[in-house]
Amino acid sequence: MDRTYIADALKIPGRQVLVQGFVDNFRDGKNMAFIVLKDITEKVQVTIDKNAHPELLETIGQLTADSVISVTGLVKQDDYIKLHGIEIEPVSIRIESIAEPLPINRKEIPATKKKAALERSSIDQRIDYRWIDLRTDENQLLFKVQTLMVNNLRQFLLERGFLEIHTPKLIGAASESGADVFEVKYFDRSAYLAQSPQFYKQMAMASGLDRIFEVGPVFRAEKSYTNRHTTEFTGFDLEFSYIDSFRDVMRMEEELLTDMLEKVKEKYGGQIEEKFGRPVIVPTLPFPAIDLRELYDELERRYGYTVEESEKGDMTTEAEQLSYKFVQEVYGHEFLFVTGFDAEKRAFYHMRDEQGRAMGYDLIWRGVEITTGAQREHRYEILKKQAEEKGLGEDVKFYLDFFRYGCPPHGGFGLGVDRMTMLLLDLTIKEAMFIFRGPNRLNP
Ligand code: 4AD
Ligand code: MG
Repeated sequence: MDRTYIADALKIPGRQVLVQGFVDNFRDGKNMAFIVLKDITEKVQVTIDKNAHPELLETIGQLTADSVISVTGLVKQDDYIKLHGIEIEPVSIRIESIAEPLPINRKEIPATKKKAALERSSIDQRIDYRWIDLRTDENQLLFKVQTLMVNNLRQFLLERGFLEIHTPKLIGAASESGADVFEVKYFDRSAYLAQSPQFYKQMAMASGLDRIFEVGPVFRAEKSYTNRHTTEFTGFDLEFSYIDSFRDVMRMEEELLTDMLEKVKEKYGGQIEEKFGRPVIVPTLPFPAIDLRELYDELERRYGYTVEESEKGDMTTEAEQLSYKFVQEVYGHEFLFVTGFDAEKRAFYHMRDEQGRAMGYDLIWRGVEITTGAQREHRYEILKKQAEEKGLGEDVKFYLDFFRYGCPPHGGFGLGVDRMTMLLLDLTIKEAMFIFRGPNRLNP
């Protein structure tokens, strides 16, 4: 018999099905036993009348929580059953894999008459056994939502003539700054793990590919222990040619994200609110935008937040967080574009204006940076000078060569997929990733 997903089985009372999954819950009573069986689509109650089915007793006697079983049986409608008003009356139960007692508590277990309450395991303990932690409804929803998000970004760009490329992650030079790069042994020399696909996105522009994007791993050797930093994340990067200004890049991004959030809300808005307690808000266009100095003035005037004059060319973490309050109050919006960063604080490849400001932006969502974007410097001599000023000479020569034989004006951005997921679902980055990677975490 072919397997039926539980969500489909629920729709066909009266039929015999084979359903397979994890034992989500198991109660073994004197006369009756109840299994809640869970697969990736749904849950269903399997009801066993022990007197009527003595042949199943031995199997039931071995069952433990989270064991994997195959159940063949009749789908029955019964309005008294809490879970969907449906139960499965089994004719056979096969144990595929027995689970040992679980080493973590995925949720707090409330006290009973016999046992004291059990606390939920910490996120670090849960990551030690991430595969068990990922079996929860919340975590499985997370991956369904993330799949929809990335797929929608991809679809949006494909409809607008973008090509998808796959760039190397082993490279000969640091792509963002020399500081946060992982050096790896590469035969008898050193290589570096790509800190972004930046150089190759731009090479694609010099190749005449016109509009490209990439979804791929990004490595940062940062010893950060925050709720939003990891040493390996998934970047959604794009780059396109013949722009007039970085504002064209901002337009592209706001439309892309709005379309994506529309689709997420449509399909998963209800479930996200139920499981994560946070509504999905579809933003209005255009997103508010503000110059960095103006933002600092506003934050000082409204909330008494002050920073040293010398720090005002970049965004502090506190300013990022406070900017959420500001953008909600003033614009009733969750997103804020911030422009006017000092070139000195930005990567060398950003184009600069006459005042020495980078011609780019950060996008802040719910108080956290999710994107940096810019128009790039495509004029060889100027780019070379900017690289040298940052002490990047020989290392980036191969990259500078991309601009010597004809290259259109272009710009793009890098969007952190893990940050986006985390902010959408009100989680920390550790909770939002399939497996987190940090300075102290290389396993599982
Ligand atoms: O701001 P970043 O460093 O920009 C770049 O990589 C440029 N090449 C982008 C461009 O096209 N100009 O990284 C882009 C995004 C950040 O805005 C953030 O969402 C995410 O990547 N990110 C991180 N996410 C998790 N952990 C980290 N350590 C991250 N560093 C950056
Ligand atoms: Mg950035």
